[in-house]
Amino acid sequence: MKVNFLDLKGQYHQIKNEVLTAVEDVFENTAFTNGPHVKKFEENFAAYCQTKYCSSVNNGTSALHLAMVALNIGPGDEVIMPANTFIATAWGPAYVGATPVFVDCDPNTWEIDVEAAEKAITLKTKAIIGVHLYGKMCDVEALKAICDKHNIYFVEDAAQAQGSKYKGVRSGGFGELACFSFYPGKNLGTYGEGGGITTNNKEYYDRIQKLKNHASEEKYFHQEIGYNMRMGGVEGAVLDIKLRKLDEWNGRRREIAARYQSEIVSTKIRMQEVGADYESNYHLFVVTVENREHFMEYLKENEIFAGMHYPVSCHLQKAFTYLGYSEGDFPQSEYLAAHCVSLPMYAELTDEEVSYVIEIVNNY
Ligand SMILES: Cc1ncc(COP(=O)(O)O)c(C=O)c1O
Repeated sequence: MKVNFLDLKGQYHQIKNEVLTAVEDVFENTAFTNGPHVKKFEENFAAYCQTKYCSSVNNGTSALHLAMVALNIGPGDEVIMPANTFIATAWGPAYVGATPVFVDCDPNTWEIDVEAAEKAITLKTKAIIGVHLYGKMCDVEALKAICDKHNIYFVEDAAQAQGSKYKGVRSGGFGELACFSFYPGKNLGTYGEGGGITTNNKEYYDRIQKLKNHASEEKYFHQEIGYNMRMGGVEGAVLDIKLRKLDEWNGRRREIAARYQSEIVSTKIRMQEVGADYESNYHLFVVTVENREHFMEYLKENEIFAGMHYPVSCHLQKAFTYLGYSEGDFPQSEYLAAHCVSLPMYAELTDEEVSYVIEIVNNY
């Protein structure tokens, strides 16, 4: 039996008719960018996230970039974030000329180490970006409390966490701003590229809506330097259809995760700790194993295809050599980078496929 790490075809076939009808509607209305389909999705996604506003953008990286612009973060400012994340978390601060300041992760949850984050605060710190890694939210309550105490902003990188919950509340409303990615492989992924920023603050929302549209409220009048980061009509229409299924698909991912957690009994495998307060959307199911290359080769021989999220910790990326970090600075993040393996995880995996992955992993 062959089990892919991710396969988007099955899901497309479930919703094909709705998607093609919606795409035709976008075309018939020549609503190719922004437009009614995008607006409808923005309203529905804000409601889903239990926030007042959602501004759609063209991808999650732009969401992080615009979040920094909207908070007036720039040269001379520092922004704290985990070293163990996808690099785009750090692009936002880097694009505006601020300094990304990395901190290590917790050895059990693999999320940003809250104590280390507080210790990294200086007079230059403007914000902490908490990443909801693999779909499990970071400790938003503790991070928000630290940010309030030091009068700095809390931003959620919720790129992987559509529908994830902390104490029953969905991601998106804990930070001043929360940044989502709707890249095709995400739990809520569009057919193209997409992103969004949720907030309860009308001023930020209004500014982001303008910024992404050439900083223009009235055509050909521009109050400040703007961007073209609008979402396409097709992307908005697809997202609105998929949003209606998100809870069902996340529920299936949780079922699969629960089986991995209870049925993978091999002592060679370690898993991310997800506390009782957290409901992960299981965007990824990451484990660690001592000899990763050997384990992945073994999986491949058995036609199970796994991933690595992420094989190089951000502080050791070439792009950030100018920041002066070196090996050994963040041992937990470096350990994860060297030992992480992402098992197959998507809602359309069959029970048989899940059983097969469990059996092969246990036999390792
Ligand atoms: C944690 C995290 N932040 C940011 C991004 C960037 O999103 P995008 O690929 O839509 O630009 C991603 C997605 O890959 C991500 O996983």
